[in-house]
Parts: sequence; structure tokens; C-alpha cells
Amino acid sequence: FEARVARIASTIRVIPDFPKPGIMFQDITTMLLKPDAFRDTIELFVERYKDKGITVIAGVEARGFIFGPPIALALGAKFVPLRKPKKLPGEVISEEYSLEYGTDKIEMHVGAVEPNGRAVVVDDLIATGGTLSAAVKLIERAGAEVVECACVIELPELKGRDKLGNKPVFVLVKAD
Ligand code: PRP
Ligand code: MG
Repeated sequence: FEARVARIASTIRVIPDFPKPGIMFQDITTMLLKPDAFRDTIELFVERYKDKGITVIAGVEARGFIFGPPIALALGAKFVPLRKPKKLPGEVISEEYSLEYGTDKIEMHVGAVEPNGRAVVVDDLIATGGTLSAAVKLIERAGAEVVECACVIELPELKGRDKLGNKPVFVLVKAD
């Protein structure tokens, strides 16, 4: 496991001062250029969640849409997109979350997640945890259980896990 994670980590590019001075941007697009690393990433998540009765993989727009669907297909689970506001055409429920300046929202289609579903929320990265905690709330409002959140990268300094309360967060790579 450690060796595979180290290989994956080595394919993630860090771009300083993007999108703003002082931010070290964790760029997963360079991992996607390496099929072995991308495949390994998906497999590590699939190995963790197979045989756990997962029925829902929810992915957060946009970068959760890269990792969520291959995991869902491998598990035989449904994929549920959680989208930025005003993108989903059907009836939605929405959750607001705070950003550094102001707030944003994510939305989910009513009926996409079954009550009693067992879900994993997938995203590329946990920073402050605001996005994932809004995602968890949406799914729990639909009556399903969020078994765990899963990310490729964590920025531990931002203490995003605190915002998730006791909800477990599984990450492959801890950035510094
Ligand atoms: C980034 C990242 C996570 C979120 C993490 O998404 O992909 O979804 O921020 O931050 P948080 O833990 O502080 O909430 P972003 O909203 O920049 O948009 P994108 O995925 O559409 O690129
Ligand atoms: Mg995102």
C-alpha cells in the first residue's frame, strides 16, 4: 500500500501561487496522464470499499467526477453527481458551505439516493472540509448513510476533518 501511494503521490504536481499568491495548488491532472497511477488510485479505493455493501458513490463537481465514476462501476454501485448550483435540471435539494470569501452551494437530484443507501462521497482533495461536509449533509437528508468520505489528497494543516465531526475520511496522500 505505502509503495503504491508513494508512486501515486509522485505524479501529483504542485503549482505554487495558484490560483492566488501563497496557495500551493495540488494538481491531479498530471496523475491522469499516467494510466498506471490513475488505475492504481482507483484500485486502492475499490479494494477498500468492495464487500462493504456500498450502493452509492457520490462525486462532487468537478474533480470528484473524475474519480467517482470508475470506482462506482467497479463496485457495481450507482454514481450520483453533486453539482454546483443551477446545473441539475430536475428537482434538487441544496446545501450551502463557506469558502474563504462568501459561500457556495452544491445540489443533488431528489430521488437519486435511496433511503437506506450506503454511500461513499468521493472528491480529489479535502482542504477546509466545507465541500465534503455539505455533500454528507445532502446524502443524509435523503435518508442514506455516508459510510465514509474518500479523497486522493488531504491538506492536514487546514483541519478539514474537524468539520466532518466523527465521519471517517480516507485519504491516500497527505500534502504538506
Ligand atoms: C476544490 C477541490 C475540493 C474542494 C476542497 O474544488 O476539488 O472539491 O475544493 O476544498 P474544501 O475542503 O475547503 O471545501 P473547487 O471548489 O475548487 O472546484 P472544482 O472541483 O470544480 O475544481
Ligand atoms: Mg472540487
